[in-house]
Amino acid sequence: PGVLIVAVDGPAAAGKGTLAKNLASSLGLPHLDTGLLYRATARRMLDAGLSPEQDDGAAEAAALRPEDLARPDLRVPEIDRGASAVARQPGVRAALLERQRAFAQAAGGVLDGRDIGTVVFPDATVKLFVTASPRTRAERRLRQLHGDAAGADEALLEQTAQELAARDAQDAARAVSPLRKADDAVVLETDRLDADAVLARALEIVRERE
Ligand code: C5P
Repeated sequence: PGVLIVAVDGPAAAGKGTLAKNLASSLGLPHLDTGLLYRATARRMLDAGLSPEQDDGAAEAAALRPEDLARPDLRVPEIDRGASAVARQPGVRAALLERQRAFAQAAGGVLDGRDIGTVVFPDATVKLFVTASPRTRAERRLRQLHGDAAGADEALLEQTAQELAARDAQDAARAVSPLRKADDAVVLETDRLDADAVLARALEIVRERE
């Protein structure tokens, strides 16, 4: 048998990152947050005075250096939108594809993103598709960014839910590698589950398939 590869896909702020990190440490595997690759590419374009919408210079920006991924300013609204824009470009996706495959080829890994189970590792050992309602996802995103009080602010919740929905719609509608559940992925609906419960359920699924 080959190495153990776990694909974790789903819409924005559904809890993919937390689950992937916890799964990787439970299984002793490396973890790759693939969204960070798109975020760092968008950051480089903006820093170079380029629009993340344009394809001129985009594939070059996707040739990321280690320091591009270590930047502290990759989780801001401007980069949420910029990452989703660069992610539509075939040249960017092609440039990042090999890097993602190389990451897990030798020793396996847990990768979270939008197209891991459909495109990056269509033969992954386990494919999980993590979802939650728009309301839950908006609450989680606000708590993560601004603390518990922000998760109770109705106006902010409404605005955040709209931003997440716009990004999901763009990610699902694009021509290349759209956000989509792989046919053989297991759906993990996390509205009523905390991080530990999601991890426990995911570990059961991994054990059934490895
Ligand atoms: O996961 P995260 O929210 O950090 O991803 C940022 C953006 O990067 C997503 O909205 C999506 O457009 C893009 N992305 C992608 N494919 C992946 C991971 C992220 O297109 N595998």
